[in-house]
Amino acid sequence: IIRSLTKLREWRLAQTLARRKVGFVPTMGALHAGHIDLIRQSMAATPATVISIFVNPSQFAPHEDLSKYPRSFEKDIAEITEVSRSARPEVEPVVFMPEVDEMYPSGIELDRTKQVGAFVEVLGLSHQLEGLVRPHFFRGVATVVSKLFNAIQPDVAFFGQKDIQQVSVVRRMVKDLLFPIEIVMGKTAREKSGLAMSSRNQYLDPETRQKATVLYRALKNAENEYNAGETSSKVLVDIVKKTLSAEPVVKNIEYVEITDLESLSPQENARPGSVLSAAIALNSAAGTPLRILDNIIL
Ligand code: PAJ
Repeated sequence: IIRSLTKLREWRLAQTLARRKVGFVPTMGALHAGHIDLIRQSMAATPATVISIFVNPSQFAPHEDLSKYPRSFEKDIAEITEVSRSARPEVEPVVFMPEVDEMYPSGIELDRTKQVGAFVEVLGLSHQLEGLVRPHFFRGVATVVSKLFNAIQPDVAFFGQKDIQQVSVVRRMVKDLLFPIEIVMGKTAREKSGLAMSSRNQYLDPETRQKATVLYRALKNAENEYNAGETSSKVLVDIVKKTLSAEPVVKNIEYVEITDLESLSPQENARPGSVLSAAIALNSAAGTPLRILDNIIL
């Protein structure tokens, strides 16, 4: 476990001198099987792996769940140790757990109008889909991911398809800011019910968690139609919306769209490689409505 930038850079230099490639899996902790899959992939692809655990303030809006975001560091470390034993990487994986002060030397305000210092924004990809509902989000992600890339200098970094827009944003950032880093996208890990795994699923009571499976079912219904020959995005999106509307747990359909993976621009007709993505807000007995998102590559 490394907490300081100085120590991390010493470790990184040793990997360079030993000519070991470094893989990197950024996370906010509360690890589940989706994170573990990415960690396993990194350990299989590179002799050295860094996993970061950092709940990044700049991707949370003032009204969001920064202080409540699930934290389970000891369990996370135990799981990484477990994977590392079975994967047998050349060197022990490093868990990088920096302090907020070191990651944000100029400080960080959640209120965007009060922020000072350097931020990274990927224009054209950050304000549709998730970015429409969470306008602060991708600036926070792009900023922290570039800080982590600068600190770790990985050769390869692993991101999950679950957050597919994040992958598009990071890929464009890497291309435009000339980061010499390969970005690998890992498949979405799902619960047996089909629900995409997420650290925030812990917020769902068992009944809501079961009903939340409607999102994946709705996407699958549209995918089946697509596989049967339907390509009209409007028709496919309507199938998703109809399935969602029939389930009372769905409080609000935030978006359902078919887009190109690289440009995220909407497509009138779906084709192989198009992304069908959706986000909904759920009515939950726990009070605060919870949003979930998912996607399928057609
Ligand atoms: P976090 O939500 O912890 O996710 C870390 C990584 O795990 C991301 O690449 C995410 O896409 C992936 N992931 C999450 N759920 C997954 C699932 N069910 N299947 C496969 N992969 C999954 O995403 C973030 O953190 C942050 O935005 C971060 C990139 C760390 C920047 O702060």
